[in-house]
Amino acid sequence: MLDVSVKHLSFSYDKELILADIDMEVKAGAFVCLLGQSGCGKSTFLRLLAGLEKPNSGEILVDNEPVTKAGLQRGVVFQDYGLFPWMSAGENIMIALKQRFKNMNADQRKAEALRRIKDVELAESNFDKLPKELSGGMKQRCAIARAFSIDPPILLMDEPFGALDAVTRAKLQDLVLDLWRKETENRKTIFFVTHDVDEALILATDIFVLGQSPSKIIYKYSFNGEKKLDRNTIYDDPQAMELRNNLIKIIHNEIQIKTNDKI
Ligand SMILES: Nc1ncnc2c1ncn2[C@@H]1O[C@H](COP(=O)(O)OP(=O)(O)OP(=O)(O)O)[C@@H](O)[C@H]1O
Ligand SMILES: [Mg+2]
Repeated sequence: MLDVSVKHLSFSYDKELILADIDMEVKAGAFVCLLGQSGCGKSTFLRLLAGLEKPNSGEILVDNEPVTKAGLQRGVVFQDYGLFPWMSAGENIMIALKQRFKNMNADQRKAEALRRIKDVELAESNFDKLPKELSGGMKQRCAIARAFSIDPPILLMDEPFGALDAVTRAKLQDLVLDLWRKETENRKTIFFVTHDVDEALILATDIFVLGQSPSKIIYKYSFNGEKKLDRNTIYDDPQAMELRNNLIKIIHNEIQIKTNDKI
């Protein structure tokens, strides 16, 4: 259970300022959704959280320790699944287990990988299949199984369901929520990037909206650590409706401002 604190974080690629003075306080076990237009710097922000890029100024603290490099403390699920194409679904999970749990022997790794495959409701027969033999939804299940198998206290997910149809997407949202909820004592802190306001409402305990580049946090909303909304309530609950409208307006206004700027 690790708190994450982002202080005055700025980042540029070459001379172009992408993130400008981002501040964020996230409690351990929160499910954070990051919203913002394409190109505003959401993936860049996740890369900084992962330790794959270094800030120009400011810092990211995890449990009061600065993030300086990538580590097993922070697992990442990429939009393109990030599976090794030459390894089967099972092997993709076993190699992550090998890195993370040095004392596990081959049989234990296999048993654990199989358990994880079943956990994400993939049939056992998929264990030996290569990623190219799996559908997009199955690949994403495998990537989620791998991320949870190494049991990182912090999980970074970059638009993981962007390429999936609505039904598969809804199933995987429920799956991730179930996996997150199951760990009542040691709940992971999740950072989840999405374009979809409804997805954020279904998943989040905390929502942050990033403005256009150079990006700052332009809006935040917290349910104070509690998961208040779900698929059934987001369209009926008055608080949810107001929040939904607000989020859509904020993201839309950003588009208007940018469009007018360019004219
Ligand atoms: N490796 C890189 N080198 C230089 N510029 C980059 C690099 N990666 C991203 N950028 C630039 O940084 C900005 C933010 O990109 P980023 O990928 O973080 O956006 P995003 O919010 O994740 O967008 P999307 O929603 O489309 O995924 C963009 O202007 C992009 O062109
Ligand atoms: Mg991105």
